[in-house]
Amino acid sequence: MIGPGVRARGIRVSSIGASAPRYRRRFATLRIGCHGRATLIETVGLTKRYGEVAAVDDLSLRVDEGELLVLLGGSGSGKTTTLKMVNRLIEPSAGRIAIDGQDTATIEAHDLRRRIGYVFQRIGLFPHMTIAENVAVTVTLLGWDPARVRRRVDELLELVELDPAIMRDRTPSELSGGQQQRVGVARALAASPRVMLLDEPFGALDPLTRDRLQQSFLRIRRQLHLTAIFVTHDMVEALLIGDRIAVLHEGRLVQIGTPRELLRSPADDYVRQLMDTPTRQARLVEALLEERPA
Ligand SMILES: Nc1ncnc2c1ncn2[C@@H]1O[C@H](COP(=O)(O)OP(=O)(O)OP(=O)(O)O)[C@@H](O)[C@H]1O
Ligand SMILES: [Mg+2]
Repeated sequence: MIGPGVRARGIRVSSIGASAPRYRRRFATLRIGCHGRATLIETVGLTKRYGEVAAVDDLSLRVDEGELLVLLGGSGSGKTTTLKMVNRLIEPSAGRIAIDGQDTATIEAHDLRRRIGYVFQRIGLFPHMTIAENVAVTVTLLGWDPARVRRRVDELLELVELDPAIMRDRTPSELSGGQQQRVGVARALAASPRVMLLDEPFGALDPLTRDRLQQSFLRIRRQLHLTAIFVTHDMVEALLIGDRIAVLHEGRLVQIGTPRELLRSPADDYVRQLMDTPTRQARLVEALLEERPA
């Protein structure tokens, strides 16, 4: 298992919590999650206000070690704002975030970001760098030697089904949107982080590629024992890949639970409607088949 001080695929994962005993104590009461596993990501009363409007409102949730939490909710419900607060791309107006028991406000932002793999919603590749340089950004900062970087880049490009020989030296503008999105996933995985934040990583992909990459992502996360928050609009994706799903509505947490719990006991009409979507769509497709006798 990857943990503080353990070598993970050759890179040292240092102890995040060593320098903040005060915050460690504050979060300590909540550190064992519902499955008896340690809590790796925790938000307490997390709030982001823009003027009068709260983009994220008093959000408290925990993600256990090795767990994949899906963040689900309509456009503007605060999903991206939440992810960006976790790795300090946005500073909260109120509330706290802890990773591995340490308040993230006590960790240097660039240090925190190196330890967290982040897949941006709008891709965010560096336009003037090649694909290989983009994927290698973090491991280059970590001081890996060029031969090892090159091997890692090729391995990651193959993982996201891009041919390294063709893609390595291109720039992002020479790739399609879906291909760029896959480079974003490869880049986030480069340093084998313990924690990943993924903001609609497969949103721009055709359904077949999306399906394959979902499966390959699930394999990777088991291998690396990744803890992840995964944002999606896609109900089927949420149900199939999430250990638990957190539903946000207008910045507030409406319900959090396993896919089965949400399907069986939706907390309100909004969650019920969301959960009904895949079955409603399946019924419509079935009806189409019935209208067209073979
Ligand atoms: N810099 C900003 N200034 C003012 N309001 C903002 C700012 N950034 C985000 N918001 C607002 O905060 C709310 C939440 O935005 P956020 O990007 O988190 O939504 P989201 O759930 O990721 O939506 P989507 O599914 O469309 O990506 C929205 O109403 C948005 O307009
Ligand atoms: Mg968003």
